[in-house]
Amino acid sequence: MQLTMIGTGYVGLVSGVCFSDFGHDVTCVDKLPEKIDALQRGEVPIYEPGLEDMMTKNVANGRLGFTLDLKDAVGTADAVFIAVGTPTRRGDGHADLTYVYDAAREIAHALKGYTVIVTKSTVPVGTNREVERIIRAENPDADFDVSSNPEFLREGAAIEDFMRPDRVVVGIENERTRDVMAKIYRPLALREAPIVYTDLESAEMIKYAANAFLATKITFINEIANLCEKVGANIQSVAKGMGMDNRIGGKFLHAGPGYGGSCFPKDTKALARIGQEHASPIKIIEQVIDINDDRKRQMTDKIMYLCDDKVKGKKVAILGVTFKPNTDDMRDSPSLTIVPALVGAGADVHVVDPQGRKEGEELLPSVTWADDPYEAAAGAEAIVILTEWNEFRALDLIRLASVMKDPKMADLRNIYDPIEAKEAGFDYISVGR
Ligand code: UDX
Repeated sequence: MQLTMIGTGYVGLVSGVCFSDFGHDVTCVDKLPEKIDALQRGEVPIYEPGLEDMMTKNVANGRLGFTLDLKDAVGTADAVFIAVGTPTRRGDGHADLTYVYDAAREIAHALKGYTVIVTKSTVPVGTNREVERIIRAENPDADFDVSSNPEFLREGAAIEDFMRPDRVVVGIENERTRDVMAKIYRPLALREAPIVYTDLESAEMIKYAANAFLATKITFINEIANLCEKVGANIQSVAKGMGMDNRIGGKFLHAGPGYGGSCFPKDTKALARIGQEHASPIKIIEQVIDINDDRKRQMTDKIMYLCDDKVKGKKVAILGVTFKPNTDDMRDSPSLTIVPALVGAGADVHVVDPQGRKEGEELLPSVTWADDPYEAAAGAEAIVILTEWNEFRALDLIRLASVMKDPKMADLRNIYDPIEAKEAGFDYISVGR
């Protein structure tokens, strides 16, 4: 199939590269010349394990290309995917659909022959119908259908999630569209990846409901962790015991400093707004948003408590600033709340992150960047683990304590065993233990 992907961000680029690896001919379109130039030079603008190799391979075999020319790329496509950003609109928490609707208008004037316009961006319920209305209004003679095909890609595991999905969700209005979507995803059907065909609104709602549920699951275990600390239970044992119930499942029950990223914060806010606007508020999600925001502040208090409520003039080492491992993304990362609070309280903050420095240097002023944990810990009076990078999982705790001025550790991802940490000489706190 000839596919066109509009938008070369995390979703658009990963989807375009993976579709070309299926054997489709894919053209990725973006508005930013510098982005297209970089992609044409084989440079990958995001850190996503496995993406660069897969992109290089498919460009070399002529199945993948990059262009600024939306008109040409749409005119030759069997299906056009809208994978542009839907950021949280300033002020009201709504998803900003400007880029989606702009793309729809441009697509409308570029259509030649029957084309399926697929919205892959995460969009509020009803958006696909609005895309259809816009295209119909802009080009009444166009022969097209729309389809909702939300993505369920985790950053750092996006290739894996695309190639081996738990399911593919496809919202359609007729069999003609279904035939095209079935051809696009045929390689996955051969791997028996379940494809859920449903209506447009249900497909849009599945995405929001799934993400909001995952954010709720994380927030639930974080709240239980707080109580575990008060009653002397161990959150990791609690999570393990809970997760063995296959109605609950063990994933996404890791207590930590709160969720971040480009999806959960945005999607929970958008879903809450949709509920409010339809006089059917989703109160649990409204609570999840508030609890998660407050948790990042709670974590700062936890660190201050470890430092006897005084960090002024003290060196504090931070291990990890990205919102999760195996990504360079810092959007809504807990570090964006915690680090500025420590700097504001007068701490001399030194930061290590395998991939976070590129964005971190702009987003976290007034910190010093170190190349490894031992360098950051040298002379420090506290060390804080914020992101569970593999690089931080097997540190020599005795050596680490020995280079510190005062060996205190706040392990906010529960990487280490409290007994081992204390035996290594640390005044050690963690989450829910
Ligand atoms: C998420 C969804 O998982 C994915 O399906 C959707 O398409 C996009 O949003 P992503 O945001 O990339 O993916 O990362 P994810 O691995 O879900 O983690 C999100 C946040 O939750 C991170 O801040 C992570 O640290 C946190 N988290 C995750 C926990 O705190 N505990 C957990 O057990 C799991």
